[in-house]
Amino acid sequence: MSLFFLLFLSSLMVVNWAESCPCERPELCQQIRDERDFEVFVFDVGGKTWKSYNWSVVTTVATFGKYDAELMCHAHSKGARVVLKGDVHLADIVDQNNRTGWITEKVKLAKSQFMDGINIDIEQAVEEGSPEYLALTDLVKETTEAFHREIPGSQVSFDVAWSPKCIDKRCYDYVTIAESCDLVFVMSYDEQSQILGDCIAMANAPVTQTLHAYDQYLNLKIAPEKLVMGVPWYGYDYPCLNLSQEGICCIAKVPFRGAPCSDAAGKQKAYSWIMKQVNSSLSGRLWDGKQQAPNFNYMDPEGQIHQVWYDDPESICLKTDFVKSKGLRGVGMWNGNILDYSDDPVAKQQSAMMWNALFGC
Ligand SMILES: *[C@@H]1O[C@H](CO)[C@@H](O)[C@H](O)[C@H]1NC(C)=O
Ligand SMILES: *[C@@H]1O[C@H](CO)[C@@H](O)[C@H](O)[C@H]1NC(C)=O
Ligand SMILES: *[C@@H]1O[C@H](CO)[C@@H](O)[C@H](O)[C@H]1NC(C)=O
Ligand SMILES: *[C@@H]1O[C@H](CO)[C@@H](O)[C@H](O)[C@H]1NC(C)=O
Repeated sequence: MSLFFLLFLSSLMVVNWAESCPCERPELCQQIRDERDFEVFVFDVGGKTWKSYNWSVVTTVATFGKYDAELMCHAHSKGARVVLKGDVHLADIVDQNNRTGWITEKVKLAKSQFMDGINIDIEQAVEEGSPEYLALTDLVKETTEAFHREIPGSQVSFDVAWSPKCIDKRCYDYVTIAESCDLVFVMSYDEQSQILGDCIAMANAPVTQTLHAYDQYLNLKIAPEKLVMGVPWYGYDYPCLNLSQEGICCIAKVPFRGAPCSDAAGKQKAYSWIMKQVNSSLSGRLWDGKQQAPNFNYMDPEGQIHQVWYDDPESICLKTDFVKSKGLRGVGMWNGNILDYSDDPVAKQQSAMMWNALFGC
């Protein structure tokens, strides 16, 4: 194929993109431009349950499932942004050309899908000062510049661990990263990924520990209006090696990034699953006053005892109360799809309460 023909083809494709708005109303393909003072940032992992989101509050949807044009059109009709997922092996983008190539490809993809930005979700271990550390910081800066230039009003966000203290060996330049993008989504969950004390089942996101970590971010002089608080709409189900009289569940030793045990001894369970189990469990809903989180014990069909730790509106609102009091940018969750959005009246009520808990008690 001649170069001329290739150029001709690609110009056809550009024309085609401009004309291929999949929305019923072509104006819904226009990217969202207005600033929102308060963010409600939703991760969507696919399927059609987004239809049941509380769209009167959603401001951004990060699409981690496959591209869904219907979701894009719907979000735009509600004034909400839809952003791509960005993940790349850091060793591959230490090279400037490779990095620029990655960014160019993402901008092109966002334009062709009428998206409003990108959520960079790199959860790799990085050593402070390493080539990957510097490349990651540059990646965030250069991605933000490219998106802002190519798609006016677009949003670039970056996902960080629940604390800036090298969690899971993710020693990033949090300060420069936060300065370089529009907002940082703090994943305030999986807080037992590195258990250094007793190997026992504990809360996914204990309230005091969670809030203390926001103080750590703020103490680094990261502006509160850059920080979005991410809460879990899921919990962990741990098989207990034994369960003490006091309700302590010993768990198997599954090491993770230097720690002898971790939440990898359990399985993540959606809030919808948890709500179906809790009433018929051995214990019913228990409240741990120290961690300020609900939990319950159940026996599986093989006779194995399990302990389940999760978040519900009572534990979530204790955390989201802090969002307003500290002037954070907003709230969000992992993930929007995992509530029970069926017509069952109890489920409907429970799901509505989970959405409301995003705004405090
Ligand atoms: C560039 O990225 C590719 C994968 O996309 C990788 O195979 C290659 O090694 C990278 N080059 C450099 C110099 O990092
Ligand atoms: C429970 O199991 C753990 C791990 O096997 C063990 O260290 C501990 O002594 C056991 N506790 C009881 C009360 O049996
Ligand atoms: C479980 O029990 C709670 C508290 O008694 C109740 O409000 C809820 O409706 C029950 N859930 C289901 C699924 O029946
Ligand atoms: C959606 O959220 C708004 C604001 O919090 C609330 O007033 C409304 O009742 C919610 N809608 C549903 C269906 O829960």
